[in-house]
Amino acid sequence: RSAMAEERVLAAVTCTAPVNIAVIKYWGKRDNDLILPINSSLSVTLHQDQLKTTTTAAASRDFTEDRLWLNGEEADVGHPRLQACLREVRRLARKRRGSSTEDTTALSLSYKVHIATENNFPTAAGLASSAAGYACLVSTLARLYGVEGELSEVARRGSGSACRSMLGGFVQWQRGERPDGRDSIAQQVAPETHWPELRVLVLVVSGEKKQVGSTAGMQTSVDTSPLLKHRAEVVVPERLALMVRHIRERDFEGFGQLTMQDSNQFHATCLDTFPPIFYLNDISRHIIALAHRFNAHHGCTKVAYTFDAGPNAVIFMLADTVAEFVEVVRRSFPPATNGDQFVRGLPVISASLPEELLATVVAEPVPGAVRYILHTKPGPGPQFLDDPSQHLLGADGLPRRTA
Ligand code: DP6
Repeated sequence: RSAMAEERVLAAVTCTAPVNIAVIKYWGKRDNDLILPINSSLSVTLHQDQLKTTTTAAASRDFTEDRLWLNGEEADVGHPRLQACLREVRRLARKRRGSSTEDTTALSLSYKVHIATENNFPTAAGLASSAAGYACLVSTLARLYGVEGELSEVARRGSGSACRSMLGGFVQWQRGERPDGRDSIAQQVAPETHWPELRVLVLVVSGEKKQVGSTAGMQTSVDTSPLLKHRAEVVVPERLALMVRHIRERDFEGFGQLTMQDSNQFHATCLDTFPPIFYLNDISRHIIALAHRFNAHHGCTKVAYTFDAGPNAVIFMLADTVAEFVEVVRRSFPPATNGDQFVRGLPVISASLPEELLATVVAEPVPGAVRYILHTKPGPGPQFLDDPSQHLLGADGLPRRTA
């Protein structure tokens, strides 16, 4: 790289952002353009060592157009939600500069931007990537333009659930009351350090890709499901207060039960949608039954499942349950021996199962039904990467490597 080229990219910023998993689900909008939800929701931010998006944004006077690369492939920068995020960050930057004394070092808002973004997990695995993606985009652009403060409102314009990825730990998205969405923001209920024993297993199940996207699915639900209306008006407000209390008290029994019940009610609203939507498949239902047998065997809630708009299970438990439950999953869904690592992420020690547990919990094995298990835990919000060697864009403003 020449010194000339180095000079041309005026600014480049790289951030990473996490995935989050809701334990009180968001499903349904009251405003499609501003992405305002019909109910508040609550999620756990997952650790970026296992699941993260990385984004670099660069601006230069030499760039002739805004450009975007997703996992090394050039993509359409004209997507309305991406444009909304870009417009909002630039608007905040303008507002900030207008109110402060003249800052001649500030990046020109008329420069075009190049954006490159990558996930450290396969997109094909069907793990929610839009939340991490938009949280990362907004964090990166905000840093590039020197914007600080409330950014969850901007991330929300990319994808509703993205606003919750702007914070670490346990995060609530307040539905808000205002028509302009200024109060529809994410707030931290507790940091990731609050519950050090909490662990998360993502069970990536085999099967086809998702049928109905969240955006279209929840719109049909809003239009047709009386259960969803009741849920938003009556059930969620009560559950949210209860969930906050369980988290504050680190009450796994309460947290786990409510997590499972809320996932089940979300999927019930999908069945109540007309025409109905099915996100769970036979393997998902096997996992649900397995979790309940496991808990029944122990006489308390040891594991708690939750499912989003797809068949993969996310299972919460305390650290002392991981080894035994992983072994139960391995026995129930014997991995196809294709050499792939079955357990990924945080280390899992091996456990042998007592005969009685084997007999009562492990039913008919379904070989190959679970592709792999990812072991992770709650983690922090978006991070800045200061080391320029970690930028996804080179000094010429183009992706350094392609996927
Ligand atoms: C089932 O945030 O993907 O994961 O706002 O239309 O982009 P849009 O939808 P999205 O919906 C997520 C729905 C969910 C539940 C949740 O994360 O709360």
